[in-house]
Amino acid sequence: MDYLQIEGIKNLNGRITISGAKNASLPLIAMTILAKNQVSIKNMPDVVDIKTLLKLLSNLGAQCTFNKKNVLVDTSKLTETKATYDIVKTMRASILVLGPILARFGHCEVSLPGGCAIGQRPVDLHLKALEQMGAKINIEAGYIQASAPKGLKGCEISFDKITVTGTANIVMAAALAKGKTVLTNAAREPEVVQLCEILNASGVKIEGIGTAILTIHGTNKELLDIQEFSIIPDRIEAGTYLCAAAITRSVITLEKVKASHLGAVISKLEEMGSKFDITEDTITIHPSKKIKAIKITTQEYPAFPTDMQAQFLALATQAEGTSIIEERLFENRFMHVSELQRMGASISLNGNIATVNGKTELSGTDVMATDLRASSALVLAALVAEGTTNIHRIYHLDRGYDSLEKKLQNVGAKIKRLKE
Ligand code: UD1
Repeated sequence: MDYLQIEGIKNLNGRITISGAKNASLPLIAMTILAKNQVSIKNMPDVVDIKTLLKLLSNLGAQCTFNKKNVLVDTSKLTETKATYDIVKTMRASILVLGPILARFGHCEVSLPGGCAIGQRPVDLHLKALEQMGAKINIEAGYIQASAPKGLKGCEISFDKITVTGTANIVMAAALAKGKTVLTNAAREPEVVQLCEILNASGVKIEGIGTAILTIHGTNKELLDIQEFSIIPDRIEAGTYLCAAAITRSVITLEKVKASHLGAVISKLEEMGSKFDITEDTITIHPSKKIKAIKITTQEYPAFPTDMQAQFLALATQAEGTSIIEERLFENRFMHVSELQRMGASISLNGNIATVNGKTELSGTDVMATDLRASSALVLAALVAEGTTNIHRIYHLDRGYDSLEKKLQNVGAKIKRLKE
């Protein structure tokens, strides 16, 4: 198993190119199940989650190639409709194949994803919406068995709670359904917007893109002609490197990034003292010497993302005063707290609220990554800790960060990947 060894360093400097967004790529790969042609996707991030989903599609009979950020997927010979436990257990987002397979073939089985380090993460809203579209759903022996022999029918669906992959799943199912689906309380994340835009350009008329009410005009099982497209920049990767700049007080320029997707993150960094120069596809951060304490509540887009909570918590350990960080989306997303405490952070947890007293000197030690974004919080802390930090179990990090150690080395970080 690999681990990362990081020497605390006071300053970084330079430019970092942002990769394509993992969370946009996953639904867009699943979307290829709706295509009649081979689909070419550019700017794919080289991360493990993408390889996992491509492997799942290959197991189902699709032909997939991944070469230098370019992916080709041909699902014309896809015949198998069961996503088995061995893959689904490694990546919950495998649930994204349920909507498109069911819509195209009239039946689908997907292993229930099960528990997750950051909380329960049920898929009940996906299933309830598919039932409203006419699917019969059984849960048997750990599998979701869905069938709709006469095809899915458009209808009115209102999500009780905003769900990102739930919205993507239902939009893809509705794309091949008969008639119009109106989805209320839909997610508005840029990754969902890109999925809707590509479908819209491929013959599925979608109204309300980027709003909470999506109207999807299904093609009644006619497969789509999907032209080549490029994945949007990863706003969470970008936010993580902005935090790396802020915590080390370094001027860094991000390239191939979209600032408009980072509104809440940039505004919190401004509150903490950073200044920004922004162009159409670059962001330069000029952090302040003193970091100000902050109050953050995670919420759905366009509010502050839960996927940036851990990184801001690490940053708050270096802020002057008391920061309060409230997690509203996942009940158990504070596993990084105990690891940061081991590095010397002063953090108290009360339910879903973390109170961080700063500024504290952090010291390097052995720590363990517990989930994807928790891992990056430990990297940030290690960058400013006194001495050496070894971060174990970085397979979590490899699921979602493309070439993290190379990108950080390029701006001067002392970071190495080693074998246990
Ligand atoms: C997606 C992102 C993940 C991000 C999360 C929230 C992908 C691949 N992953 O995850 O990085 O942290 O959005 O922004 O895009 N819920 C239910 N029932 C459901 C579905 C969800 O109760 O059927 C709850 C969840 O437990 C959670 C909340 O809704 O409390 C939001 O979850 P959701 O938006 O579905 O997260 P994911 O799509 O899994």
